[in-house]
Amino acid sequence: MPATKSASPKDPAEDVLRGTVERITDEVVRSLDDAPDPRLRQVLSSLVSHLHALATEVALTQAEWEAGIAFLTATGQKSDDKRQEFILLSDVLGLSMVVDAVCENLPPGATESTVLGPFYVADSPERQYGESIAEQPSGEPTWVSGVVRDLDGRPIAGAELDVWQNAADRLYAVQNPDVPQNNLRGRFRARDDGSYGFVAVRPTDYTIPTDGPVGDLLRATARHPWRPAHLHLIVRAPGYRTVTTHVFDSESEHLASDAVFAVKPSLVRTFVQRDEDDPARPAGIVGPWTSVDNDLVLTPLD
Ligand code: BEZ
Ligand code: FE
Repeated sequence: MPATKSASPKDPAEDVLRGTVERITDEVVRSLDDAPDPRLRQVLSSLVSHLHALATEVALTQAEWEAGIAFLTATGQKSDDKRQEFILLSDVLGLSMVVDAVCENLPPGATESTVLGPFYVADSPERQYGESIAEQPSGEPTWVSGVVRDLDGRPIAGAELDVWQNAADRLYAVQNPDVPQNNLRGRFRARDDGSYGFVAVRPTDYTIPTDGPVGDLLRATARHPWRPAHLHLIVRAPGYRTVTTHVFDSESEHLASDAVFAVKPSLVRTFVQRDEDDPARPAGIVGPWTSVDNDLVLTPLD
């Protein structure tokens, strides 16, 4: 194991260093005293204190500081209106899921949330019960269905399900200019009894984008870029908290090592293999297919 760089605890220079850093940290935090927004003051003070503590703890060198600045600069330069490398960075560092944990605070029984990811596109086409989100052959058909309920088990008629997923070639439509841009996405409404159903395709494991600084970070740390197979859903209904969530395929080989740490056991589902002559085969499905049950439970707004 490489030696970790730090001053010896007995080294008097360490006391001097700690005193110097404390003084600088206090000075910076005091410089925020007049910030009119108290929340901004709180967040920035904490950020400064933690950054200073980090630099001190690891004895950050000038060269490492420069490398960090170059990395963040490259992260910004890789970002545009279609690509958000900073969100990807937050995802691979687990920050997105920490923010999710801090904010989620859902009661037991509610459908849990997870990362939004970079491939969500607003204003997907509205589709009817039973319709397929595949606008061209995209993989093995999968019937996705369930009931949207409240915490007391009452159906939520009219709840909106905004769904998107990748194709068998592992790509989302936004990553592939050669496919219809509404392929594998759509918005559905729960029926009066809260039920919903649509045809998707069985999702495949895929790699997060690795052609930018985040990919360099993964390679430098010998981490793989794979996400376990999943469908994305945002579920909205008036009077309820919107939940951004996933349906994970229990057979995915990356469930235990998601590159963005977004798997929650309650979101893992069994995709059941079905034959073409299965009497439950929904209209429009040809050949072998799978089905997945996915009931959803929404939390009322406070
Ligand atoms: C996704 O599931 O689409 C995703 C989430 C985080 C980072 C990259 C992709
Ligand atoms: Fe995804």
